Amino acid sequence: MAARIPWPVRPGEPEDLPFLWEMLYEAAHHRPLSDLSISRYLDGWGRPGDAAVVALDPDGGRKVGAAWYRLMPAGNPGYGFVDVSTPELAIAVVPDRRGIGVGRALLRALLGTARSRDLKALSLSVLRDNLAAVRLYEENDFVRLSDLDSEFPSWVMRAGLSTVEAWPGAVQTNGAQT
Ligand SMILES: CC(C)(COP(=O)(O)OP(=O)(O)OC[C@H]1O[C@@H](n2cnc3c(N)ncnc32)[C@H](O)[C@@H]1OP(=O)(O)O)[C@@H](O)C(=O)NCCC(=O)NCCS
Repeated sequence: MAARIPWPVRPGEPEDLPFLWEMLYEAAHHRPLSDLSISRYLDGWGRPGDAAVVALDPDGGRKVGAAWYRLMPAGNPGYGFVDVSTPELAIAVVPDRRGIGVGRALLRALLGTARSRDLKALSLSVLRDNLAAVRLYEENDFVRLSDLDSEFPSWVMRAGLSTVEAWPGAVQTNGAQT
């Protein structure tokens, strides 16, 4: 079994798009990519606000996972839609590299990207029985917002990215304690 190591993660590049589609297939639990409710997470990739990170196997540089976010329009929202200024996140790791830290490395890198771009929050949807993903998200400050009682019972989750929101009790710039 592969060891838990500090997985290298780099920003996504245009040539990563086919790999992002592969990862979308995994994140969507093998639902058809032709389904518009799935493909909207990557269709026309490269819009303003789109951002991705890719994890690499240190032995040979094979791509082992990806995470990305994009803003969704109110007229065609994703499953994890909160509002038009909160990008929705998607993430997946190749099946033979799960459970050894790749997802955590990807999520932390993407949250760093979002913070560096002054985003206030990210959101997502996750199947309630996807315990690995729910734990990963909760460990990274995502909180459950609402229940999607659809064909696929899911949580909508949101992580605030401002220092004050992410760290309750932090000292604000005016010196006040939250
Ligand atoms: C969900 C997913 C991205 C997590 O990535 P990963 O590389 O497997 O996760 P990591 O090894 O980095 O683990 C990070 C944390 O996730 C949770 N986790 C991972 N695997 C888990 C498992 N089998 N059971 C419970 N929790 C698990 C744990 O909290 C873990 O932290 P810990 O090891 O300190 O307890 C990955 O499993 C995946 O691609 N799954 C299929 C696609 C998918 O479900 N995407 C999300 C759609 S919302």
